Amino acid sequence: MQRVFSGIQPSGTMTIGNYLGAMKNFVRLQDEADCVFCIVDLHAITVPQDPEQLKQNTRSLAALYLAAGINPDKSTLFVQSHVPGHAELGWMLQCVAYYGELGRMTQFKDKSSKKSVVTAGLYTYPALMAADILLYQTDLVPVGEDQKQHLELTRNIAERFNRQYGDAFTIPDPYIPKIGGRIMSLDDPAKKMSKSDENINAFVSMLDSPSVIRKKISRAVTDSEREVRYDPEHKSAISNLLTIYSLFADKSINDLEQQYRGAGYGPFKKELAEVVVDKLAPIQERYQELLNSTELDAILKLGAERAREKSSATLRDVKEKFGFIL
Ligand code: TYM
Repeated sequence: MQRVFSGIQPSGTMTIGNYLGAMKNFVRLQDEADCVFCIVDLHAITVPQDPEQLKQNTRSLAALYLAAGINPDKSTLFVQSHVPGHAELGWMLQCVAYYGELGRMTQFKDKSSKKSVVTAGLYTYPALMAADILLYQTDLVPVGEDQKQHLELTRNIAERFNRQYGDAFTIPDPYIPKIGGRIMSLDDPAKKMSKSDENINAFVSMLDSPSVIRKKISRAVTDSEREVRYDPEHKSAISNLLTIYSLFADKSINDLEQQYRGAGYGPFKKELAEVVVDKLAPIQERYQELLNSTELDAILKLGAERAREKSSATLRDVKEKFGFIL
């Protein structure tokens, strides 16, 4: 059975971009593979976090994973900081990764250019991400397109270690959906939909109320034509909305183009909003139940134990290969 690993940062609201690009695939993959899913709180502190808020965000993300369909009997769901092996291997891989290659990460360049203070952790972040993945002998990493470069670096680090010290790591493959791997902003289709966008109308949060979802989708930018047609190059805004519609409704883009032929953007957007509202409603309901339950904490505790078990042999092997006395 293949091993799948992925992680999401507990840094505030989760958008439908995170859901369609990543989490929706996690749910599907748990029926085919041995899945390990992580709430990466160690990654979140690479930028300042309010401690109380981080706690809440961590529980909230755990509840969302479960509400979206992650089944703790099938998958291992845990919080990164509960398994010390991540920080340990993260450090060791900082000593395998090169300064220059970390500096070439576009996400680092992008994030650091917008900040007055840049932590060392933000710079070495991809080595920790490599550790997350490599600790579990991962075959497949379901992520959105923005993580592709980090995955390539992970593969390079793993290959380098295997070559220098002897085989310890499986070389993981990225699993990036062709449709949905990069959901764009509702406000600017040239930009990725991001939870950190200062314009809250640029994204739909998984927890937005029906009226907010309707408002955001009705305001989403389009173009000056009125034809609902998939053409990412010339009609990027409508193509993005078609992608969102297609993934939420489980209908092909082709079928949607037929359905809205000659209808104009008004009815298309209106019905898209209803599809999103209907799909998110049961997730939001289950989320509220879970958030206020002790069940959630029990699941995370068990998940951490399982994750420790699944990763301990690899961690030990790597330490031995480095020459640490065990
Ligand atoms: P994060 O928390 O920013 O995002 C979580 C997942 O959502 C995907 N995603 C998107 N997909 C499509 N369209 C979008 N607009 C969009 N925005 C976000 C991301 O690609 C990601 O899959 N570094 C990672 C977290 C991480 C990780 C890992 C992932 C840490 N360790 C190990 C995989 C394996 C991150 O910051 O994702």
